[in-house]
Amino acid sequence: MNQAIVSLHNVVKSYQRGKQTVEVLHGLDLQIATGEFIALMGPSGSGKTTLLNLIGGLDRASSGEVTVAGVRIDQLSSGALAKWRARHIGFVFQFYNLMPMLSAERNVELPLLLTSLNSAQRKKNVAAALAVVGLADRARHKPSELSGGQAQRVAIARALVADPTLLVCDEPTGDLDRKTADEILSLLQTLNREHGKSIVMVTHDPKAADFASRQLHVDKGVLVQAEIA
Ligand SMILES: Nc1ncnc2c1ncn2[C@@H]1O[C@H](COP(=O)(O)OP(=O)(O)O)[C@@H](O)[C@H]1O
Ligand SMILES: [Mg+2]
Repeated sequence: MNQAIVSLHNVVKSYQRGKQTVEVLHGLDLQIATGEFIALMGPSGSGKTTLLNLIGGLDRASSGEVTVAGVRIDQLSSGALAKWRARHIGFVFQFYNLMPMLSAERNVELPLLLTSLNSAQRKKNVAAALAVVGLADRARHKPSELSGGQAQRVAIARALVADPTLLVCDEPTGDLDRKTADEILSLLQTLNREHGKSIVMVTHDPKAADFASRQLHVDKGVLVQAEIA
């Protein structure tokens, strides 16, 4: 049987707004198998980003169990969680979040500066990651010298460079035109099918969700049964 890459049990997330506590996720149970490509859908404000950030260990649940890549990450100290995240998770965001002063290859190298790899090893991994996303010939370009689609490819290379188990992507095509979006989605599909990356992708776009192997729907902080299309 396929091992779970993500397993949530009774996960609650609340935020403090002044004196008020606002519960945003209301006791979620969720299993994602290794090798899945999940499209996480739902209305704005329904809790998609919150859920993604819990899975990626960027934020912590208020209660409940969060197991990712075999580790109970809700039980890790902050330091251990940061280390775990660097080893296991690649993040891709809507607006790329590249460092504007750094070239593509320097941006991609950033996560490796936290590892014990030496400069030559880092260079090799960076070149491999840029080749996977089809941007070997743009290594020296700054983000301002790249199109939106190319910038997102650089961001995906950065997410891949440390060879993470799981990619978490928050509206990765939200700022791209249809054709460029489809190219990025095809790339994610290739990373899933041919490179064995498990993926959880938040999207508003039903066409984007079609690239995934399964859809999950969040509404008002609960997972709802997907409608049959
Ligand atoms: N840091 C925060 N502090 C307080 N409330 C937050 C915070 N982040 C998100 N929220 C609230 O949680 C709810 C879900 O937000 P979010 O997960 O970003 O939704 P989505 O990504 O589906 O649009 C919203 O009502 C939002 O206002
Ligand atoms: Mg969001």
